[in-house]
Amino acid sequence: MIDKLKELIAEAEEFKAQTKEEVEAFRIKYLGKKGLLNDYFAEFKNVANDQKREFGQTINQLKKTAEDKVNALKEELESKEEVKGIYGDLSRPGEPIQIGARHPISIVKNQIIDIFSRIGFNVSEGPEIEDDWHNFTALNLPEYHPARDMQDTFFIQTNPDILLRTHTSSVQVRYMENNKPPIRTISPGRVYRNEAISARSHCFFHQVEGLYIDKDVSFADLKQTLQYFTTEMFGKSEIRLRPSYFPFTEPSAEVDVYWGLKTETDYRITKGTGWLEIMGCGMVDPNVLENCGIDSKEYSGFAFGMGIDRIAMLLHQIGDIRLLSENDVRFLEQFKSAL
Ligand code: DAH
Repeated sequence: MIDKLKELIAEAEEFKAQTKEEVEAFRIKYLGKKGLLNDYFAEFKNVANDQKREFGQTINQLKKTAEDKVNALKEELESKEEVKGIYGDLSRPGEPIQIGARHPISIVKNQIIDIFSRIGFNVSEGPEIEDDWHNFTALNLPEYHPARDMQDTFFIQTNPDILLRTHTSSVQVRYMENNKPPIRTISPGRVYRNEAISARSHCFFHQVEGLYIDKDVSFADLKQTLQYFTTEMFGKSEIRLRPSYFPFTEPSAEVDVYWGLKTETDYRITKGTGWLEIMGCGMVDPNVLENCGIDSKEYSGFAFGMGIDRIAMLLHQIGDIRLLSENDVRFLEQFKSAL
C-alpha cells in the first residue's frame, strides 16, 4: 500500500493542467470528500502497527504534494489570465509606430527662416490670391508694362484684377503699407505661374522674399547679408552676382552659389554649370517705396526673392520637381531623419 502511495505522489508531482476545470478534477480526485486521501486515511486503522509510522508519513506527504500542486496550478492559471486580460500577450512582438516626416520644402523653408531670424528678420505672410496692385502695379509694373510678360500669370477669368500671385514680392508691398521702417522681414510662401510642367519647372512653387529698409542702407549691406546666408545655408561662400533687371529694384542682380557637379542631379539642376541660381535681388526702387507710403529720400533698402524648390532639390538630391507635390508617401518617408 505504501508503494501505491508513493506512485500517487509521483503522479501528483508530474500533473499538469491547462484549465481551471482540470485542476478542480485533480483536487477532487485527491483531496475531495470521497477522494483518494480520505480512502487511505480510512485504511490507517487496518495498517500493521510496525508500518503505521511510515504509512502515516507517506500519506501526509501525498496530501501535501496534492495541496501544493493545486495551489501552484491555480496561481499559474490565474496569473496567465490576468496578463491576457489587461495587456494581451506580453511576449508578442511590438507593432511598428508610423512616424511622420516633414516635407523637404518645409525643412528648407524652416532652415531659411532660422538663418534670417538670427540676424533680426521676422516672418510675414500674404495671400496667395492677390490683386493687381500688390502683385504688379505697386512694384513698378504698371498696366501694359512689358515686364509683366516675364511671369505668365493665372488670372481669375471673371475679374482680371484678381490673380494667383506670381511671386512673394507682393508681400513686400503689403508689409511696407502696414509697417514703418526700420523693416527686416522675410516672407515665405507659394507662388503660381502658367508654365508647362516638367521635371524642372512647375505651375506652382515656393519662394522666400526678403526686405530690409532703413536709413543709409547700401548695396554692400545686401552683399554681406547674402554672403552670410549662403555660408550658413550651404556651408560654402562662393557666390557671384550677375547684373540683371527687375522693375522693382535698381540696381538689380541675380545671385548664383557654387554647388559643384558631383551627381547627375547636380548636372540637371545647375544645367551642367555647377552654379545654382538661387535668387534675384537689388536695391528697392524709390518708386516702390513711394507707392507703399515710405519716403524714399529718407529711407533706402534692399530686397531679394529666392526659390525654395531648387535649393531643396539640390540639398536632398531630388531629380524631379514633380515629386515635391505628388504626396507619394514612399518619397516623403525618406525625410524622416531630416530636421
Ligand atoms: N520676384 C522675383 C521673381 O519672382 C524675384 C525677386 C527679384 C525678388 C528681385 C526681389 C528682388 O525682391 O529684389 O523672380
